[in-house]
Amino acid sequence: MAIGPDLFEEIEQLKKERKAVILAHYYQDPDIQDVADFIGDSLQLAQAAQNTDAEVICFAGVHFMAETAKILNPDKKVVVPDLQASCSLAESCPPEAFAAFKARHPDAVVVSYINTTAAIKALSDVIVTSSNAERVVASFPPEQKIIFAPDRNLGAYLNQKLGRNMILWDGSCIVHELFSERKLVQLKVRYPDAEVLAHPECEEAVLRHADYIGSTSALLKRVKEGGAQRFIVATEPGIFHQMRKAAPEKELIEAPSNASCTTTGACNECPHMKRNTLEKVRDCLRELSPEVDVPEPLRSQALRPVLRMFELSRAA
Ligand code: 13P
Ligand code: SF4
Repeated sequence: MAIGPDLFEEIEQLKKERKAVILAHYYQDPDIQDVADFIGDSLQLAQAAQNTDAEVICFAGVHFMAETAKILNPDKKVVVPDLQASCSLAESCPPEAFAAFKARHPDAVVVSYINTTAAIKALSDVIVTSSNAERVVASFPPEQKIIFAPDRNLGAYLNQKLGRNMILWDGSCIVHELFSERKLVQLKVRYPDAEVLAHPECEEAVLRHADYIGSTSALLKRVKEGGAQRFIVATEPGIFHQMRKAAPEKELIEAPSNASCTTTGACNECPHMKRNTLEKVRDCLRELSPEVDVPEPLRSQALRPVLRMFELSRAA
């Protein structure tokens, strides 16, 4: 459906009236990215949420991202376009089961990916994102026992890269685990000059064929600054919008998925991220609802490991 200029104007007007800022993840629809005040990866968005002086944060992403913004800003209103926009990784780690898992390893520190609920953050010692996980994990002495949750693929990648033996929670991303190794190899044969970029949430079978592995912002930087002219990209295709803006002369190819929807081009899309629409962005700014809240003392307990992440991300 075509979106008229009225909707963009309406959102701009509401932003002013509400003293609101729109934060959007790279996986959002291009229209939402274009109306956002700030676009970024999970770490950049958490930092933007920490630094904003807006009274209202409209978070166009998924629930754990908005929840992190609220954990950092108890006095601001955090609204989302769709409260049902969840994340399979966050869902894969229920707090009761995780608390029992943690109790079985009393001498381990808990490093959790930001793709978790506030309840899991509250059970963690430090939070990481795909852009600082290596640095944070490497900051612990080699003999330190570590539980890493909830992404087994990111955890296995870090174990291999850093020579660690972290205990992994068995969660995964429904989008990144669907990339097909067999079809990727076929595509590489067809385009031998293409550089393969992959997000570390992909399975090892896919990561082993990647020339470059990184967070969404790192992959974007690689397209912008790397020497290749053609890229096969194994992550959610929402990121293509900024990649095309940054390097319009470069060719981007979606890494093929195992799902049988390749002709529609939609099989790599995150169904949670894609619940958000520009109309819903307008509506949540107008109604100041749905709102994301994190009650005390859970909020303060979840804040501690998030602040530790910021500290360790800054440390040289
Ligand atoms: P980034 O932090 O790399 O943007 O990843 C977020 C995410 O949900 C990837 O699926
Ligand atoms: Fe969660 Fe995967 Fe969607 Fe990222 S792409 S928000 S990890 S379900």
